[in-house]
Amino acid sequence: MKNLVGRDFLTLKDYTQEEIQYFVDLGLDLKAKKKNGELHEYCKGKNIALIFEKTSTRTRCSFEVAAHDLGMGSTYLEPASSQIGKKESIADTARVLSRMYDGIEYRGYGQEIVEELAKYSDVPVWNGLTNEYHPTQMIADLMTIKEKFGKLEGLNFVYMGDARYNMGNSLMIACAKMGMNFTACAPERYFPNAELVALCKEYAAQSGGSVTLETDVMKATAGAHIIYTDVWVSMGEPDNVWKERIGELIGYQVNKKVMDNTADNSIFMHCLPAFHDWKTKIGKEVGEKFGLAELEVTDEVFESEKSVVFDEAENRMHSIKAIMLATLGGYEMK
Ligand code: CP
Ligand code: NVA
Repeated sequence: MKNLVGRDFLTLKDYTQEEIQYFVDLGLDLKAKKKNGELHEYCKGKNIALIFEKTSTRTRCSFEVAAHDLGMGSTYLEPASSQIGKKESIADTARVLSRMYDGIEYRGYGQEIVEELAKYSDVPVWNGLTNEYHPTQMIADLMTIKEKFGKLEGLNFVYMGDARYNMGNSLMIACAKMGMNFTACAPERYFPNAELVALCKEYAAQSGGSVTLETDVMKATAGAHIIYTDVWVSMGEPDNVWKERIGELIGYQVNKKVMDNTADNSIFMHCLPAFHDWKTKIGKEVGEKFGLAELEVTDEVFESEKSVVFDEAENRMHSIKAIMLATLGGYEMK
């Protein structure tokens, strides 16, 4: 799609339904090529910079593997190893990196930082997660849903938990743009902000989808095709919010009772990492302190047949490859 070349990828608000569909289908096309052992080094000779001010497993690995598969080199900049924000402004960093690289990924805090980077950069900037949005995750999730249901339009999607943060916001935008029925299932103060809800209702009116805010778990999840959740405390938030979050969100945990209330062919999704057992340092500490074996999702649901979390994780790589390829150019999907 010619008009995607040279564009930044900062939030799905900037993309039409047709363009988002193209990223999804290109991701599926590249996944098939990889599975068939078909080389696809369409960006040979190019290089990308990966700036991470927050930690990552999936996003970093996806960018690095995808870049390699496309024939590109990559440089990983971790918080401690660059001058960004400490000795050099975002604007200056953008202008320096644009002289050396063909694309820049940024993961960090406020959305305004990645927007500033994009403003001063001459090459595409990809948002690898901010407090407000996580758009690359959306293409992987839509790919996964399309693989499972063969379509996106008309599906009932329920997001449970803290719906005001990057995942809740981004999923509401993605579903509303793609003609899906999105429900945020949370206590009222965890609903996405009113301005974004109003915007997404406009998208939904165009696409034939819908946006609903619901506090009642059984009402929200009845007949759902997709149940999605995320951690209750996100990267960069202070540890002292755990007590309040657990108190307010424990009723929104994804467990067997919730899944039993959904459609027969329903699936469970999570961007990961997830606190579904005590096999992590934080999961154990928080679990012991509050007497909980699991947090946002029970181990039973996480490990169940309905759980597609590792398909999503794999699709991060194929979708990030699609996003880079579409915005860098060099290949037209037939
Ligand atoms: N889902 C996701 O973004 O994972 P990482 O934090 O490991 O990149
Ligand atoms: N809401 C989570 C998403 C992690 C992929 C966070 O920001 O930490």
